[in-house]
Order: sequence, then structure tokens, then C-alpha cells
Amino acid sequence: MSSTRRFRPCHLFRINPVNLDTLTETYNLNFYFQYMLRWPEFQQVVTAPDATIMAYVIGKTEGEGNLWHGHVSAVTVAPEYRRLGLASKLMTFTETLSQDTYNAFFVDLFVRKSNSLAIAMYKQMGYIVYRTILNYYGGSEDAYDMRKALTRDQEKK
Ligand code: COA
Repeated sequence: MSSTRRFRPCHLFRINPVNLDTLTETYNLNFYFQYMLRWPEFQQVVTAPDATIMAYVIGKTEGEGNLWHGHVSAVTVAPEYRRLGLASKLMTFTETLSQDTYNAFFVDLFVRKSNSLAIAMYKQMGYIVYRTILNYYGGSEDAYDMRKALTRDQEKK
């Protein structure tokens, strides 16, 4: 059994088991606090009955005009809780919030070009590779900017 709730500052003391993963970015405190203050509803954490953090998503809205969109900054699941549908659930949450509450045109995310598992998962969820951002990860690796059109983007631009 798991519970999904708002990601709050107190959870930051317990995210190490999730973040001890080469594919999960660990940011500085300002980064997490800025997200919690500016876009609180996008920050979600999944916890086990013993309060262990199983997974989380961090996101926001950004852009203007027809580039108004939801952005997933991080989605990650602790190794022992993978393949239970948690990432799918958190991605669906972000897409629904972006569409129903913010009337966004699309949701996007950046992913390492080498992270084939995540890329395959996003494609299965309806994301496409929109562009490649050269040397995005500290100059050492390119990123794919992947996007999924929401209902408002009727022409799928
Ligand atoms: N092998 C093959 N397909 C996989 C897979 C695996 N190990 N993990 C996920 N998938 C695919 C499957 O199609 C799966 O659907 P299915 O189980 O019905 O077949 C679908 O993705 C959704 O899986 P889900 O259970 O929701 O994913 P998850 O909760 O295990 O989380 C990641 C997936 C990528 C978030 C997780 O592996 C992770 O945290 N990785 C490290 C951090 C990371 O790479 N984050 C993304 C950075 S952009």
C-alpha cells in the first residue's frame, strides 16, 4: 500500500534512498524550496506505510502563448519499488494537473540520451523526442527534450 501526498520540506531529509541513483539528479536546497513555494501542487511524493519515500515527482509550469506547458523536472522511484506503476501514476498526475488546472498545451521533460529505459517508458506514455539539447548534462552528455501534446494542442504542434 502507498500514499501520494504533497512533497514538503520535511521529506527532503528522507529522499537519499531514492536519490542514490546515477540517473537521479540531486539539486541544492534552493531548487527544491523554490519548487515547493512556487508550484506546490506539482510536487508529489509517494510513501510506504512506514513513511519510507518510494518515489517522487517535481514539476512546474512555464512558457508563454502556445509554449505554455507543464514541465517534469524529476521523476524517480527507489529501486525496490520499481515496476509497480509509480512513475506512470506520477506522470499521469502531472499531465492531468497541467491540462485540467493550467490549460497547458503540452508537458515536456529532459532525459539523458543514454537513459534508454526512461526514454522507452516515456514513448510508451505518448511522449516524442522533440529535439536534442547538446551537452545539457554538465557538458558531458546530450539530453532529449521529450514532449506530449495535451488536448489544447489540437494540431499537435
Ligand atoms: N524494463 C522494461 N520496461 C520498463 C522498466 C524496466 N525495468 N521499467 C519501466 N518500464 C516501462 C514498462 O513499459 C512499464 O509498464 P508495464 O510495467 O505495464 O510494462 C512502464 O515503463 C511504466 O513503468 P512504471 O512501473 O510506472 O515505472 P517505474 O515506477 O518503475 O519508474 C523509472 C520508472 C524510469 C522512473 C525508474 O526506473 C527510475 O526511477 N529510474 C531512475 C531515475 C530515472 O531514470 N528517472 C527518469 C529521468 S528523466
